[in-house]
Amino acid sequence: MDVQQLERTAKELVPPGKGLLAADESFGTLGKRFEAVGIEPTEETRRQYRELLITTEGVGEYLSGVILFDETIRQKASDGRLLTEVIKEQGIIPGIKVDRSTVDLPLAPGEKYTQGLDDLADRLAEYVEMGARFTKWRAVITIGDGIPTVKCVESNARALALYAAFSQEAGLVPVVEPEVLIDGDHSIEHSFEVNEWTLRSTYRALYEQGVHLEGTLLKPNFVINGKDATEKASVEEVARNTIECFMHSVPAAVPGIVLLSGGQSGEDATAHLNAMKSMYETLPWEISFSWARALQGNPMEIWGGDEQNVEEAQKVFHHRARMASAAATGSYSREMEQEQVA
Ligand code: 13P
Repeated sequence: MDVQQLERTAKELVPPGKGLLAADESFGTLGKRFEAVGIEPTEETRRQYRELLITTEGVGEYLSGVILFDETIRQKASDGRLLTEVIKEQGIIPGIKVDRSTVDLPLAPGEKYTQGLDDLADRLAEYVEMGARFTKWRAVITIGDGIPTVKCVESNARALALYAAFSQEAGLVPVVEPEVLIDGDHSIEHSFEVNEWTLRSTYRALYEQGVHLEGTLLKPNFVINGKDATEKASVEEVARNTIECFMHSVPAAVPGIVLLSGGQSGEDATAHLNAMKSMYETLPWEISFSWARALQGNPMEIWGGDEQNVEEAQKVFHHRARMASAAATGSYSREMEQEQVA
């Protein structure tokens, strides 16, 4: 394992004011999002859409990395260049999602387990050849009646740790994503407890597996009330609970924490990230974003699968990336939402 190379890559992914674009939605997930805005999900529409995102001029100023899906890392832009080449020319690091999505966790109603370990070493070797420098694996923890259970938290933590070890052995920085879902009516206090448990279990498993923490990143969710909760936490409460939870459970050796947006709107996720950065001046880790929906929601809808809307969709994508970048330095304000270049 080349520890120094892993550490360099991990640091390169979290420079001040830059974060990740998650463009790694599976066929099923992207299909649902496309259909919701009237786009037919085909290999070609997925290719066009991802090309639209990564060819947006100037977006490399705000993005350090892009997470791709297996289909996308093999695809080419309309001018014949591989999409990974386009990404690199923007000064952005290509990465790849390597889990094979979730299945129902056996003997655990309502809970999920993330699969994909069996042939992982072979797939990683291929992705290295294709130019990927980091990987992502998403585990899913659901809050509900009597869940999560110990078996769900522990089995997902162990899979995350094994995935991280395989990635590091292949020279790839693992972005470890244990997502506690926002679905449900739980309070922010309950979210805090489940997140602390999940993160502590994840880091114990990473330790037991011998993972070199300085060569990893964490991709967690914000600590926030469930989306159907009657009491909504304020922006400051979300920021404080999220940082305090990380303080309890994320080792200082981890160079960066890149939050997922988890179904929040672009503006809400941006305001939450900004509050974290402006309320806490010194933290042991860099804090930034690794967003799919909070960056792509509006641009996807505006594009709608129509060539004529590419320019407008790119403008909006550029704006969202610029807002996220401002939040990652604590310099965002809601007024800046009006500044989108016409
Ligand atoms: P969201 O930002 O839409 O939560 O997606 C991030 C991600 O990569 C989920 O795995």
